[in-house]
Amino acid sequence: MTWTKVAEKGDIQSGSSKEFEVEGKKIAVFNQDGFHALDGICQHQDGSLAPKGKIEGDIVECPLHFWHYNIKTGELMDYLKGIKLKKYDVDVRDDGIYVDA
Ligand code: FES
Repeated sequence: MTWTKVAEKGDIQSGSSKEFEVEGKKIAVFNQDGFHALDGICQHQDGSLAPKGKIEGDIVECPLHFWHYNIKTGELMDYLKGIKLKKYDVDVRDDGIYVDA
């Protein structure tokens, strides 16, 4: 795993998200009660969770067919069990936001 700078501080507004490509992976970074990073691609049919996924509390809703994931754990919150998006560590440093991908 490698720490990669993805954004400047302030690039991701509170309550919103952005998608970044890091090490060939699409990663969604959420600014909601701190910064959180997950695989950005929904496990249903490859919908992009950021920036269009609706965020409510700890939950992001996929914009395509409305699956719900916990942005802090990556767990799917709907009826299917055992589906989880990979979670990545985030570090907010003086010069920007870094993801360990
Ligand atoms: S692609 Fe996300 S719910 Fe279908």
